Amino acid sequence: MPKRPFNDTFLKACRQEPTEYIPVWYMRQAGRYQPEYRQIRQKYSFFEMSEIPEVCVEVTSLPVKQLGVDAAILFADIMTPLKPIGINVEIRSGVGPVIANPVRTAHDVEKLSSLQPEQDVPFVIEAIQKLTKQLSVPLIGFAGAPFTLASYIIEGGPSKNYHKTKGFMYSQPQAWNALMEKLGDMTIKYLQAQIQAGAQAVQIFDSWVGALHAADYHHYIAPIMWKIVSTLKETTSVPIILFGIGTGHLLKEFDQLPVDVIGLDWRTSIQTARQMGIQKTLQGNLDPSLLLAPWELIEKEAKAILDQGMEQPGYIFNLGHGLYPEVQVETLQRLTELVHNYTQK
Ligand code: CP3
Repeated sequence: MPKRPFNDTFLKACRQEPTEYIPVWYMRQAGRYQPEYRQIRQKYSFFEMSEIPEVCVEVTSLPVKQLGVDAAILFADIMTPLKPIGINVEIRSGVGPVIANPVRTAHDVEKLSSLQPEQDVPFVIEAIQKLTKQLSVPLIGFAGAPFTLASYIIEGGPSKNYHKTKGFMYSQPQAWNALMEKLGDMTIKYLQAQIQAGAQAVQIFDSWVGALHAADYHHYIAPIMWKIVSTLKETTSVPIILFGIGTGHLLKEFDQLPVDVIGLDWRTSIQTARQMGIQKTLQGNLDPSLLLAPWELIEKEAKAILDQGMEQPGYIFNLGHGLYPEVQVETLQRLTELVHNYTQK
């Protein structure tokens, strides 16, 4: 089938160029809220779904067809590149990543190997090559950032307080730095491979780094983030998005990194970020829980966010965090239409 004209609205917004309307995509736009996803998921484990290129292509494309969003995001997980470097991880539905061999000592860090994308994640490369041939919207590649990845591999699974992670960071600074370097190098190689295969933008998820205050972020995290982002900037030319939850107090730190786009959760409004002096493209930030509210409330809040976003070029509509399984497909179809129609020039 011939490819439809390529819709580059999302990429233009990343580069702060004027757009005909505000582009939109949703974090976790491929997932359990879709009956089609649930059906495929019955047959495969999460990792099987993302490691069989044909299935990965189908699941990645589904929200583009179903919702009319302006970007696709590769179906994988932030844990995907950790398996080949020696982390024994499984994804439990409703729980998240669970790790059988948590990293607790300097020796555990030493044992982690380095990622060879062509050998270790060939399915990611193949899926991206297939997807970019078919899609009529940009494909976003992604990776987890070192702190967020470390939080899973040190805790052994999801956590509320990140005590073990922060305990490791404060008590074993040398091993911590070695771990950040290993995860940072892995992230660089993994994202470079995705971009080389055709990903037209990348998002770095530092979901849980908001657990640190700004001074600790500056001391323990900013150096490795700087290395990752500046290396990508030197070796590739795609827009880089950085996103975290509850990171309003770190926005100045995020802004100092050479990223192009900052993703906001629902706690920090677009207006607040602009008033703080953030001039980069912003992405976000409807509270995903609001999608369970009556439509009138969703519409009112979405319009309020769009009004703030449209004040200057460089804005992408999204949620403040990933979609929940309880959301109706129809609600998202309606929301996508609203974003497009309300902002059409
Ligand atoms: O957004 C997309 O559609 C692309 C795919 C994607 C997934 N995970 C698929 C997934 C992306 C970008 C992620 C990122 C991710 N994974 C993050 C960063 C973003 C965020 O949510 O903060 C984190 C922290 C993870 C770790 C992880 N993996 C969690 C917290 C969960 C959810 C647990 C659950 O069941 O609610 C997963 C599993 C996961 N990753 C699912 C999907 C579609 C659900 C798997 C299933 O079908 O059971």
